[in-house]
Amino acid sequence: MRPPEKPVGPGSVPPDRGLSAEQPRWRRDFPIDWEEDDYVSRRDLVKFVVLISGAFSIGQIWLAVKSKLGRRGSAPAPLPIAAVDELPVGAAKTFVFPEGSTPRLLVRTGTNSFVAYDQQCTHLQCPVVPAVAEGRLHCPCHNGWFDLETGRPLAGPPRRPLPRVLLEVREGNVYATGVEGSTT
Ligand code: FES
Repeated sequence: MRPPEKPVGPGSVPPDRGLSAEQPRWRRDFPIDWEEDDYVSRRDLVKFVVLISGAFSIGQIWLAVKSKLGRRGSAPAPLPIAAVDELPVGAAKTFVFPEGSTPRLLVRTGTNSFVAYDQQCTHLQCPVVPAVAEGRLHCPCHNGWFDLETGRPLAGPPRRPLPRVLLEVREGNVYATGVEGSTT
């Protein structure tokens, strides 16, 4: 005698509407209620993928535009970072510009000349120190060297120049007015 028909699952209807007992084992183990299931056609899937890709591309474009505009539009206000008389020739001081940035290094290279750079070495971010007599900045961590006038790497592991802080001297003060080549 044939065993009584057992439903595949609560409320489930096999897709071929056959008897539960005639369904393959996998279908009995994983019953799917086809009556309530929504088929996703290939066209719907393509639409979905195109929509997601489009949204992703628009997001990327928006981020790129925002970052460009942000860089242009948010130039920090000039900030006095030292009095001219405060530093003898060859001396240096650290400062932060704009607020919240990584430390910067101001060096007086002559009677009327100053340079300022990001203090973090572009190799592994050790602080660089001025070697004014040699016209260089030195990173003691791995013996990296940068040109004091340009910030370009001269020797050792660093390959990128130090981000440069733009300066202006007026009314006895040195002002930081911008930063070249930095995101901070
Ligand atoms: S961290 Fe400056 S040379 Fe390596």
